[in-house]
Amino acid sequence: MKSAEIVELAHQNLANTYGCMPLAFARGEGPYLYDPEGNRYLDFFCGLAVTSLGHAHPRIVAAIREQAGMLTHVSNVFHTEPMARLAARLTAVFGGGRVFFCNSGAEANEAAIKLARRWGSGEGGGRYEIISTINSFHGRTLGTLSATGQEKYQQGFQPMVPGFRLVPYDDVAALENAVGKNTVAIMLEPIQGEGGVVMPKPDYLARARELCDRAKLLLILDEVQVGMGRTGRMFAWQHGNVRPHIMTLAKALGGGLPIGAMVARPEIAASLTPGSHGSTFGGNPVACAAALAVIDALEHDGAIENAGAVGGYLIERLREIASRLDNVAEVRGQGMIIGVVLKHEAQPVVDACVKERLLVNAAAGNVLRLLPPLTLTRAQADDGLKIIARALESAAAARRGKAA
Ligand SMILES: Cc1ncc(COP(=O)(O)O)c(C=O)c1O
Repeated sequence: MKSAEIVELAHQNLANTYGCMPLAFARGEGPYLYDPEGNRYLDFFCGLAVTSLGHAHPRIVAAIREQAGMLTHVSNVFHTEPMARLAARLTAVFGGGRVFFCNSGAEANEAAIKLARRWGSGEGGGRYEIISTINSFHGRTLGTLSATGQEKYQQGFQPMVPGFRLVPYDDVAALENAVGKNTVAIMLEPIQGEGGVVMPKPDYLARARELCDRAKLLLILDEVQVGMGRTGRMFAWQHGNVRPHIMTLAKALGGGLPIGAMVARPEIAASLTPGSHGSTFGGNPVACAAALAVIDALEHDGAIENAGAVGGYLIERLREIASRLDNVAEVRGQGMIIGVVLKHEAQPVVDACVKERLLVNAAAGNVLRLLPPLTLTRAQADDGLKIIARALESAAAARRGKAA
């Protein structure tokens, strides 16, 4: 099918939940995507931080092919080798613990919320309230939406689930003030991704952790967007060595296949007993085989170090570009999650980049968000930077024109 036919067929039949671009893709290779007509796009979006090792990574393709030909599903009534091995790998990188597998970021966070409540109902002395932050994003289930601090996503779905309290991000005093007799946990993103790549002060997580220790609260870190190497470490919390009680993963974990995971300290995870939580597809052997290949590639192919180095280069160059322009307020980020904060809406800049076949997206209205593959080379980074510079320059000129 041609691109236009795919787009039309999708528009006619899909629920209208996404503000889609009128583009369709047929295949991918490394940092490039190809539409059915064979046009090549440089991908600084990675399907929302999912295909972090690029498209059709040979290790991941081989693992999926091999597992798909052997066994695709048995349910959690039984065990499979990929699931057992992946759980062992994740607990090893987490530093001990227990894993619950599911299929998405929302489900991983839902599991974290339920585990915190379950622990709170027993060990925690009947506490249930979770503090999360304004401008956060934790998912679209009613539970995770209730933890999400962005009203636009809650519109029309109220009432939200009770038991959540929202406070400003990067504000330890606000966290402290919000702790009450029913508080059981604090749930944070190490960097607010959907919120516009908002970076907290370097000691925020450590101070939140101290507060949790003092008040006997659980620290839940949502690594769904920033985990699996994106910031230049396997997990973003490793930059400050703030190991949480519960960590959630999804997106890049499966290298493009749907999988989510909640990893919890063993003494906390002990609150989950047979029948207390579950997911039919959770731990699917094909998704687990893909995730094992992702971890192999991250640990052995230098992708994490590359994310730090090339991501740092991108940030540096973007700051140089921004210094010559009057429409960029700030360039922020870590590794391969970068936000260019504009003094106007980001969508025209996104559209200008896409026209030149560079995929980027807008977050929080005015932030141009870059989520390139961790394996991007400097030459590929330069290709993208040229397009971004042109798009930013023409947006700056249009803004000056409007003001005149
Ligand atoms: C930090 C964070 N948590 C949770 C989610 C939800 O993940 P999913 O869309 O896989 O349910 C997202 C998605 O963008 C996210 O960025």
